[in-house]
Amino acid sequence: MYDSESILKTTSPSTEQEPAILDQAEISSFVNGFLQRRDVFLQACHSYGSPLYVVEENVLLKRAEQFTDAFSQVLPEVRVYYAMKSNNHPLIVKTFVNAGLNLDVSSGLELEIALDTDATDIVFSGPGKTEKELTLAVENSDRTTVLIDSFGELEHLQRVAAEKDASIRAGVRLTIDSNGLWRKFGIPLKDLSKFLDASKHCDHVSINGLQFHTSWNLDPYNQVNFIARLGNTLSKLNSEQQAMIEFIDIGGGFWPSQGEWLQSSGLPLSHSSSVTKLSSVSKTCHYKRHSTPIEEFAGQIAQAVRTHLFPYVSCRICAEPGRWLCNDAMHLLLTVVDKKARDLVITDAGTNAIGWERFETDYFPVINLSRPEVIEHECYILGSLCTPHDVWGYAYWGKGIEPGDVLMIPTQGAYTYGLRQEFIKPLPAVVMLEKNA
Ligand SMILES: Cc1ncc(COP(=O)(O)O)c(C=O)c1O
Repeated sequence: MYDSESILKTTSPSTEQEPAILDQAEISSFVNGFLQRRDVFLQACHSYGSPLYVVEENVLLKRAEQFTDAFSQVLPEVRVYYAMKSNNHPLIVKTFVNAGLNLDVSSGLELEIALDTDATDIVFSGPGKTEKELTLAVENSDRTTVLIDSFGELEHLQRVAAEKDASIRAGVRLTIDSNGLWRKFGIPLKDLSKFLDASKHCDHVSINGLQFHTSWNLDPYNQVNFIARLGNTLSKLNSEQQAMIEFIDIGGGFWPSQGEWLQSSGLPLSHSSSVTKLSSVSKTCHYKRHSTPIEEFAGQIAQAVRTHLFPYVSCRICAEPGRWLCNDAMHLLLTVVDKKARDLVITDAGTNAIGWERFETDYFPVINLSRPEVIEHECYILGSLCTPHDVWGYAYWGKGIEPGDVLMIPTQGAYTYGLRQEFIKPLPAVVMLEKNA
């Protein structure tokens, strides 16, 4: 059944994709879309101050609907769990729950936020769950399924549940690579049969599903590849073991459809010398790795599920998207406080607001909402921290730039707000622009 050759031919691994020059028309239309609504963002900054995180409820709702539709149209039974680690702001989490999504949590802290919403179906995954975290899961076993990470954790959960005379639904996470660093997640495929047998002795834990997760997928190659390997393992389980499996959770890792945008400094070393020669290292030349539309992810994954899994198990398919759902819904607004040279300004916020030196390598347009123009000019846009790595960008879109101007860095919803750090500068407030604002 497992035919690795044919799988390798269906798609190419995203990691091998060479970045191409980002098309000017594409980026101009992206910037223009935000400039069209600049009054709404300027008004938010005026009312709530700067720096500010702005969340668009409309965008959250659209993404939730599009993701769910894409998978529901190609598979018989689908459940979507929002991966809270990508952005755990309670307003965002509640918006997704109210839109009908379930939640994926990775700690007791996230589980507490999830329990504070109306979510009725929460999966709790991640390595190294503590006694306190497992206890919280058991105390809320009507709403929580634990995705167990190891044989040790199976015993631990059994002990915790037995002490409370409770029983809890669970699944087991499978590692996608039993040799490298990804070994820290889950158990190897070869141990699945042993694990299912071991769980029969744990009468307080009811194992009824499997989970795996692959990350940074610009296309479905990694997911399709693992589904084929999983099918091979399922084919060797006995019928009692196969019947235990009521869900298979394919994790998250879906890249947003705009693709990955890079500065020239973000290019892989093997590409940078040839590409930068072409562009004479212009700060307004950017690069892109293409990403696959979600409907195509869903189509290819569904085909792999039908080919490799459904012959052995009849189950629902779950997914745990984080970045794909929240990335485009949150933007950062900041204000220029000092212009030190024609080509160097300092803003009121530092990159502690996003927690890492993202913009040294990733490209996102810095849009001057106060002086709108769809032309990009070279200029160092720097934050106010005591490090030269405090960079927002090397250019801005607008007609000049002066102290007092409000700048926007769009689509910062995933793995920025959650990584923010208490460091020197106060953290931006968060405001939600309600539907139709
Ligand atoms: C188990 C698991 N599920 C889901 C996700 C969400 O991934 P993404 O935000 O890339 O969709 C992650 C991210 O690390 C994860 O580890």
